Amino acid sequence: MYGLMRKWLFSKDAEQSHDLTLGMLKRFAHTPLSLAWRQRVHAKPVTVMGINFPNPVGLAAGLDKNAECIDAFAQMGFGFIEVGTVTPRPQPGNPKPRLFRIVEKEAIINRMGFNNLGVDHLVEQVQLARYQGVLGINIGKNKDTPEAEAVQDYLHCMRKVYALASYITVNISSPNTPGLREFQHGSALHVLLAALKEEQQQLAKQHDRYVPIAVKIAPDLTDDGIRAITDALVQHEIDAVIATNTTLSRDAVAGLPHADEAGGLSGRVLFDVSTHVVKVIAKHAHGKLPIIAVGGIDSAQAAQEKLQAGASLVQIYTGFIYHGPRLIRDVVNAL
Ligand SMILES: Cc1cc2nc3c(=O)[nH]c(=O)nc-3n(C[C@H](O)[C@H](O)[C@H](O)COP(=O)(O)O)c2cc1C
Repeated sequence: MYGLMRKWLFSKDAEQSHDLTLGMLKRFAHTPLSLAWRQRVHAKPVTVMGINFPNPVGLAAGLDKNAECIDAFAQMGFGFIEVGTVTPRPQPGNPKPRLFRIVEKEAIINRMGFNNLGVDHLVEQVQLARYQGVLGINIGKNKDTPEAEAVQDYLHCMRKVYALASYITVNISSPNTPGLREFQHGSALHVLLAALKEEQQQLAKQHDRYVPIAVKIAPDLTDDGIRAITDALVQHEIDAVIATNTTLSRDAVAGLPHADEAGGLSGRVLFDVSTHVVKVIAKHAHGKLPIIAVGGIDSAQAAQEKLQAGASLVQIYTGFIYHGPRLIRDVVNAL
């Protein structure tokens, strides 16, 4: 079924197919047409960050930036869904074209630039969803917010989504928002983490509920850099790390059409470097920092390798584009 659908979608521009698919998922989630993607998966319960997950396979951030298709993705069997990245104010993102398939390698390059309808819209959409499962909400800064005020953007989003999120992801690793990755180092990182933690403590009191924070990091870090950020996350008692976002490296796709497009590369070509990051964190953190692994999972075996590398949960984006909902079932059932 997805084979046919993919053929049709891949004959179109990548972003156009994305918009068409999300439009369809949103429109038909509560109609008999949803039988096209609904599937049952085995229960594989796991508890991470104090949250009970029905299975450890989640939808990665960026596919449903505005949280408009939560119910449809839940129907496919994901154990958890991460929506966003959302910013305080709506923003258009980068000029199109900004999304490219490298079909030869089952890869994607994107420089979307946090195109989204803003946190108030996302909150409305989450409230409309019937989904009762585990929901991560991924937050970022607006492009035109000066770096000196970026912390306020994260705090603003955190306050808005706190009551609705099972966990909140702080995205400091998108390569498509200038300066964002600078928050992965030095004093900028410590200032941000301290502010997030303080806000989390206040919100936990106010809402009488503790919502864990995960920080999402890039694969383009040195081993020393990975260890330094791990230390900072443990020191500030951050609840989990998500490893990793897309890479700036093009080694694995050099010479192929679109390989020189600016943006972040994802898919199987990211698997090794991203799994390396998971291993370095796991070795350094000694169990003090749960790891959510994402990057290049395209099979049950790939997911298994992430768990063996030290992850407690996995997420999928590009593999889902190339293989469809069946990948979720295959991975969950084989784990
Ligand atoms: C088109 C596209 C948009 C993305 N947007 C976001 C985003 O808004 N926030 C985020 O944290 N990650 C975003 N990502 C990164 C994915 O969540 C994931 O970390 C990365 O693609 C690696 O996983 P994969 O190889 O399974 O795709 C995006 C990825 C793609 C391909």
